[in-house]
Amino acid sequence: MTVVEPFGLSVRDQALEADVQAGLAAAEEGLLEATKSEVPFITEAAQHLVRAGGKRFRPLLVMLAAQFGDPYAPGVVPSAVVVELTHLATLYHDDVMDEADVRRGVPSANVRWGNSLAVLTGDFLFSRASHILADLGPEAVRIQAEAFERLVTGQILETAGPRDGRDPIEHYMDVLSGKTGSLVAVAGRFGAMMSGADETVVDVLTQYGERLGVAFQLADDVLDIASDSHESGKTPGTDLREGVATLPVLRLRERIRKLGLPEDVALGELLDSDLTDDARHAEALARLRAHPALELARQDTVRYAQEARAVLAPLPECDAKSALVDLCDAVVHRAG
Ligand code: IPE
Ligand code: IPE
Ligand code: MG
Ligand code: MG
Repeated sequence: MTVVEPFGLSVRDQALEADVQAGLAAAEEGLLEATKSEVPFITEAAQHLVRAGGKRFRPLLVMLAAQFGDPYAPGVVPSAVVVELTHLATLYHDDVMDEADVRRGVPSANVRWGNSLAVLTGDFLFSRASHILADLGPEAVRIQAEAFERLVTGQILETAGPRDGRDPIEHYMDVLSGKTGSLVAVAGRFGAMMSGADETVVDVLTQYGERLGVAFQLADDVLDIASDSHESGKTPGTDLREGVATLPVLRLRERIRKLGLPEDVALGELLDSDLTDDARHAEALARLRAHPALELARQDTVRYAQEARAVLAPLPECDAKSALVDLCDAVVHRAG
């Protein structure tokens, strides 16, 4: 058994492993090519996060989905480049919004060059994604445009918060399917579609990507609390500091409403206070790490990953399907 790095996915079949690795290597070249500009500074800024690494989770999903048709079809690699470029662009923008200082283990673009250049570099990456997309045809352009609308809507809804009377957990799940499920669904869909797979397979892999994306984001939110920056390449507790209430915090608040335990209420009050204060932030992080609400959020993550796995049922048994099944576990149990 070999392992597809850096996501840590085990693949049982050597031919599949070789196909996926070759596809990822080609996508890597495509990414470097797509981020070159005549202006040296733009190349530097655009390649800053490409060269810093990242898991390449979305290109990996494109390659696995392409196994259900012709994985060497000409649209497969460019579609992986489009999805990763779009993801990358959202990271430049997201780090401005979240005032994040570290990404992929290096200083974020906003810290290195300021917010304006970080936002504009994100825009540059979107424009390059659009160039490549144009060659993939109008259907691909439409799919990407719809997903991008959902992604941005998710980011806007997260920023705006739930409207009065809306259940905060339902709001949060809408945010997640928008900001993350949308693009991971495109990865599954493009891989299948560009390889010429059957319409039913395309639908299955779209639904799978949508659910897997939500599980992936839930795991990310748990990691923001539970991991250290060595593993995640990001600063732990960024969501807390920014006052973004992710599922562990929402599960805690739900427990407060149901049980009203004094120690939960005290932690809730701490979380409501100004967590830009370093000492308070460290205390809130430590207490949340030890709180059962974190475990509840982990269970939610597992549930979504199981949903993703269940969607795969109609697919023919093959090594690529086994890898997609295993990917559900890899997403839940990842360390970074
Ligand atoms: C980070 O995505 C943002 C989320 C949707 C959770 P990744 O965890 O895929 O980031 P990289 O690409 O590996 O850096
Ligand atoms: C990442 O969201 C951006 C998108 C999914 C569009 P987050 O803010 O939740 O992710 P990290 O933790 O910064 O990677
Ligand atoms: Mg962020
Ligand atoms: Mg964010």
